[in-house]
Amino acid sequence: MTTVTTRVEPLRWGRGLEVLDQRQLPWRQAWIEVRDAAHAVHLIRALAVRGAPLLGITAAYALALEALRTRDLPRLRIAAGRLAAARPTAVNLARAVHQVMAAVEAARPQQRASAAVQAAITLHGLDAVACQRIGELGARLFRGEKVSILTHCNTGALATGGIGTALGVVRTLHAQGRLGRVFACEARPVLQGARLTVWECQQDDLPVTLLPDHAAATLLASGQVDGVVLGADRIAADGAVANKLGTYPLAVLAARHGVPLVSAAPLSTFDLACPDGRSIPIEQCDGEEVRRLGRHRVVDPSVPVFNPAFDVTPPELVSAIVCERGIVRPVTRDTVREAAG
Ligand code: MRU
Repeated sequence: MTTVTTRVEPLRWGRGLEVLDQRQLPWRQAWIEVRDAAHAVHLIRALAVRGAPLLGITAAYALALEALRTRDLPRLRIAAGRLAAARPTAVNLARAVHQVMAAVEAARPQQRASAAVQAAITLHGLDAVACQRIGELGARLFRGEKVSILTHCNTGALATGGIGTALGVVRTLHAQGRLGRVFACEARPVLQGARLTVWECQQDDLPVTLLPDHAAATLLASGQVDGVVLGADRIAADGAVANKLGTYPLAVLAARHGVPLVSAAPLSTFDLACPDGRSIPIEQCDGEEVRRLGRHRVVDPSVPVFNPAFDVTPPELVSAIVCERGIVRPVTRDTVREAAG
């Protein structure tokens, strides 16, 4: 298996923790030095760092930062609790924090910091490996000489510890000389597709076409798309997939047009304790994201807005889930348990 690479780097761990401020992309590449766990919570909530696996990795390093400042377990537990709760939908976040905290709790007081740092580095490395494997397995799902993929939101290096999940599949197809084109939905209102995915594709010379979210029906009807490949923030035990708002309509459209819809996600995104899609907590976002277009107000602040960050796609609309352990297909309670149990 050849290693697929990217020029995109969202986070650096060395003398401290630095994150690329994703709010400023694609206009500026500004790095922020994370001061402590509270600062990381603020950056996560503000979407300076986002994407399910990267949320987990960032929080893991942030807890390690905190452990370098104090050995005091109650203080570390409080920091861990705040980090885990910074955003509710991506299960990777709380899971990563709990893994680092478990390493801290198991270590002697003098070794708490090094245990936390080591746990965070390990988690980061495992995610990079998972992305490579997901890319390889996902690319195998598509047989053609040239494969065109429709994707949504940002699932690339800016969202993970490696080449990405859905965008990892795209990068792998490109490395194999088989990528026709990647079509990126803009992902209103925060525009993770337009701002981040398009920028990532440009960094790595991937042929990308941007479309408004509501052009997906026309694109799928045109027959130009071989597969819809997306990420996930949480996969419930029945195979329901929570992902960026706009995923569910893409799934309905893909089924209507006979195009396979694939969810690409590491095992850290599966939550077998969540019985079904209705049990997944969905983050509700500020209405101002929708009432404004950039700096311009388009709707009066008094207008109520329905603005969930994520939607849930039922398992019967998901053709396959690709994780580092293999391909889950068909997506049922049994196959999900077999893969993630
Ligand atoms: O609100 P965001 O930008 O954190 O949402 C990100 C997504 O929905 C991604 O599709 C998901 O986290 C998978 S990232 C590999």
